[in-house]
Amino acid sequence: MARPAWAPLESIADEAELAAICRRLGAAITADHPHGLVAVGVLKGSVPFLADLVRQIRVPVEVDTVAVSPYDPGQGRTRVVKDLDLDVSGRPVVLVAGIVDTGLTSSFLLRHVREREPASVSLCGLVDKQHRRIVPIDVTYGGLPGPDRFVIGYGLDFAGRYRNVPGLWAADSRALAEDPDRYVSDLYGSPIDRRSAIIRSRHER
Ligand code: IMP
Ligand code: MG
Repeated sequence: MARPAWAPLESIADEAELAAICRRLGAAITADHPHGLVAVGVLKGSVPFLADLVRQIRVPVEVDTVAVSPYDPGQGRTRVVKDLDLDVSGRPVVLVAGIVDTGLTSSFLLRHVREREPASVSLCGLVDKQHRRIVPIDVTYGGLPGPDRFVIGYGLDFAGRYRNVPGLWAADSRALAEDPDRYVSDLYGSPIDRRSAIIRSRHER
């Protein structure tokens, strides 16, 4: 029998497991910040995680976001394209990232936040690919260890795809490089299924 050309999708965490991770991290952040905090989400990958996490924090939270341009190895730097809106000086900050891979983005953003002289700043990352680090940074509040594969879903994308998939999946990065839509039918059903689902929902109205 011919072997599949690409490694199949592998579930890393389903919705129930992601909810349990948010409860655990929310409890830890609550315990460490009795007077509240500013949660700063790294756009766009942290959006679903940020939304679920802050609702598991039982002290007052103000939410802010930052966005950076992708790290450019040619230029050797990252740029802030959406800065903090809040003045965080003297306040505890938790930076919330969907994934920490080489650590270049998060370490750059931690430095950027520290320049605003917060009372403290720590890092919360849903997926922590520790083995991939170039910059040795600590994820104080870590969700789960990253596999040695490309991760999609629950905010994490490949070329803008898959962010709204409810669970986290390990994908084959070579398959994605060849066809970014490779996993669309696996994760959303075939176009025919999608069309009949739309027709069904119209009839059900
Ligand atoms: P860094 O290497 O820690 O700077 O991570 C840079 C960015 O690369 C992350 O914020 C993600 O946007 C993206 N990234 C790295 N690994 C993955 C992955 O496995 N899935 C989706 N995005 C990733
Ligand atoms: Mg991305």
